[in-house]
Amino acid sequence: MNKFELSSAFLIGHEKIDSDHVALVETLNVMVDAFTAKDIETCQKTWLHFCGQLKQHFIDETKIMNDFGYIEKDQGNDHQEILKHINTLGQDHNSLSDWEDCLLEMRNNLLSWILKHDLRFAQHLITIGYNPL
Ligand SMILES: [Fe+2]
Repeated sequence: MNKFELSSAFLIGHEKIDSDHVALVETLNVMVDAFTAKDIETCQKTWLHFCGQLKQHFIDETKIMNDFGYIEKDQGNDHQEILKHINTLGQDHNSLSDWEDCLLEMRNNLLSWILKHDLRFAQHLITIGYNPL
């Protein structure tokens, strides 16, 4: 299975948010390696790590956005929806093909869902002239 890549189209322009996104993609790639090595136990462990990492990311990112005066009405709901979906996705995964399904779902739908709505915040940073350098 191919590794996940974080397209530069998803760069937000905020160091912490971008580095979190890189770390999330790296975790998914640890899963790809485990899947390729047919290591179900590591798939399981890494997935749990990913879920925790994503939950923390949403908390941190919401705080950062609020600090920038950016409040998105449905963001909290979106985050809850995604976490609910993610938690269901890894449930009762016992076989290699279950983990393959999970990785494919991440690749085809969820990762872009997770990253896409941050792009509005990226636009906000441009609008307010944020330049960290
Ligand atoms: Fe994010």
